[in-house]
Amino acid sequence: MAALKILVIPGSLRTGSLNAKLAAVAAHQFALAGVDVTRISLGDFPLPIYDGDLQSRSGVPKNAVDLKRMIGAHHAVLIVTPEYNSSVPPLLKNAIDWVSRVQDGQERRGQVFHGRPFALASASQGRLGGARALAALRLILSACRALVVPNQLALAFANEAYDDMDRLKQPADIEALEAMVRQLIDVSQRLM
Ligand SMILES: Cc1cc2nc3c(=O)[nH]c(=O)nc-3n(C[C@H](O)[C@H](O)[C@H](O)COP(=O)(O)O)c2cc1C
Repeated sequence: MAALKILVIPGSLRTGSLNAKLAAVAAHQFALAGVDVTRISLGDFPLPIYDGDLQSRSGVPKNAVDLKRMIGAHHAVLIVTPEYNSSVPPLLKNAIDWVSRVQDGQERRGQVFHGRPFALASASQGRLGGARALAALRLILSACRALVVPNQLALAFANEAYDDMDRLKQPADIEALEAMVRQLIDVSQRLM
């Protein structure tokens, strides 16, 4: 069987991002499990705010098509999202909105999401760890007909969650990360 390929997408571009850090930890966990893991930055796929007139005039931007193809080149995706005002940050929502408009060749519009396994994680300095953003993101991706696995990680008090080696300190966080990683691998392998 070919190696399982998983894409990891942090939903923040901020220097020192807590979510980019968690994405790096998760990517390491996938690599330890033998997965061929790719971690990208949405900063490499800059997109204007979605505007139907812009799409009518100029089509879907090349970066949205490239991001769609990046997703399509992997068996599964992990998104690690910040929580903004109890929901998903505009950077991530806008990227999903554009990708959902891509119709590539003979594919149907938004087909890259259909049945593709996704896992979700979040990190926040607050005590909920971004759990409300995870609920919102689950709804969005489910509407895009992605297969969002049940296990997830909302990393609370994320600024204090790591040791000096950037490893998670709390057993409950480690367990949640490992369970989410394992479940995404299991579901993806069954669909390969
Ligand atoms: C506009 C805005 C709204 C925010 N709303 C929330 C929120 O609802 N819940 C929360 O836990 N943190 C909230 N935060 C704090 C973020 O969780 C915090 O800035 C976090 O570090 C952002 O993720 P990052 O470190 O990956 O960039 C908000 C931050 C911003 C800028």
